Amino acid sequence: MQETVFVTGGAGFIGSNFILRQLAQNSSSILNLDKLTYAGNLRNLDAIASDNRYEFVHGDIGDRALVRRLLQDRTPHAVVHFAAESHVDRSIRGPDDFIRTNVDGTFALLEEARAYYENLREQPRQNFRFLHVSTDEVYGSLAPADPPFSERTPYAPNSPYAASKAASDHLVRAYHHTYGLPTLTTNCSNNYGPFQFPEKLIPLMILNARDRKPLPVYGDGQNVRDWLYVEDHCAAIATVLARGRVGETYNIGGWNEKRNLDIVYLICDLVDEIEGRSGAARRELITFVKDRPGHDRRYAMDASKIERELGWRPRETFETGIRKTVLWYLENAAWVKEVTSGSYRQWIETHYSS
Ligand code: NAD
Ligand code: TYD
Repeated sequence: MQETVFVTGGAGFIGSNFILRQLAQNSSSILNLDKLTYAGNLRNLDAIASDNRYEFVHGDIGDRALVRRLLQDRTPHAVVHFAAESHVDRSIRGPDDFIRTNVDGTFALLEEARAYYENLREQPRQNFRFLHVSTDEVYGSLAPADPPFSERTPYAPNSPYAASKAASDHLVRAYHHTYGLPTLTTNCSNNYGPFQFPEKLIPLMILNARDRKPLPVYGDGQNVRDWLYVEDHCAAIATVLARGRVGETYNIGGWNEKRNLDIVYLICDLVDEIEGRSGAARRELITFVKDRPGHDRRYAMDASKIERELGWRPRETFETGIRKTVLWYLENAAWVKEVTSGSYRQWIETHYSS
């Protein structure tokens, strides 16, 4: 029988990249449950919309009756849980949805997965996995000379987003420890690549640079993030799903720490090169703006456990990954136009005007 992976949040940035990759490389079917919030976009999945191994269901992970019915009817061998509110700045302005989806929603999913798992027969029970996709932000902020986060770093989330993800990670851990649910947790650093909603640093800067709009850098621009190309993240998730040890967590990162300002410089230079300059260098668009409240200074991941145990390492270098990403945004004007209409404009106006 065809195996099925139950993906949540598969119309978002990482989830859609994961589904496209999975269907290209793997024979299992995909069931995608997504609420289609402002961050979810079915156009990301146009390429596989008519693939008969793919099914989309519009709904909320917090709708327990729906989740129960889907689990019972589609009998997946795995749940891969991406669905979340994911933008730190939005969590600062309005944390409610972050608690509702990231905490309550994950709880609902875990409860339904547990009931489903407990009623499975021996063989499917042995194969079943619940993979929870999480972030490095649960570990808090590093000082310049600190070693990178390892799986043993204590949790110290600083934003409502990070706190909601930390809470969900703890629930997942408890469901393994208490009920024996075969969970896997991945904590990953900042992703970049195609289909990322342009509220996040890299796509926002690419599009503003393209349009010669101001490039809003928070604070002094010296904050450091560890960037990973999204396809590498998806490959890591597939690896953990296939071979990860049940109950474990795996840190995933790019071994690629960069200061925000250096990222913005690089983007400016690439857009100048690809679009042509005709006028001032795009670096001159950089505008330092008021810092994000509680802005974490530095994230960095020690991704040696996943390499040692499962043999995963990032393949893309930052230089090749960022070039591909800039090209993708410049070449996909229709996608950009669609996601930047309506509520996106409202967010940009409200957030950056103050
Ligand atoms: P995203 O915001 O682009 O997409 C989230 C998706 O979840 C959207 O399609 C949205 O419609 C859906 N969704 C939201 N609430 C839902 C609900 N209640 N029920 C069903 N669907 C719902 O997010 P992303 O960047 O793709 O991140 C995916 C996951 O990876 C998140 O859990 C995030 O915490 C984690 N993560 C992201 C990054 C990153 O750099 N983007 C890094 C590490 C971990
Ligand atoms: P972001 O992409 O929001 O990811 P996260 O906050 O989850 O790391 O931001 C990445 C970094 O870029 C972070 O240090 C905040 C900074 N940033 C800006 O300087 N200007 C911006 O307009 C945005 C969106 C982010």
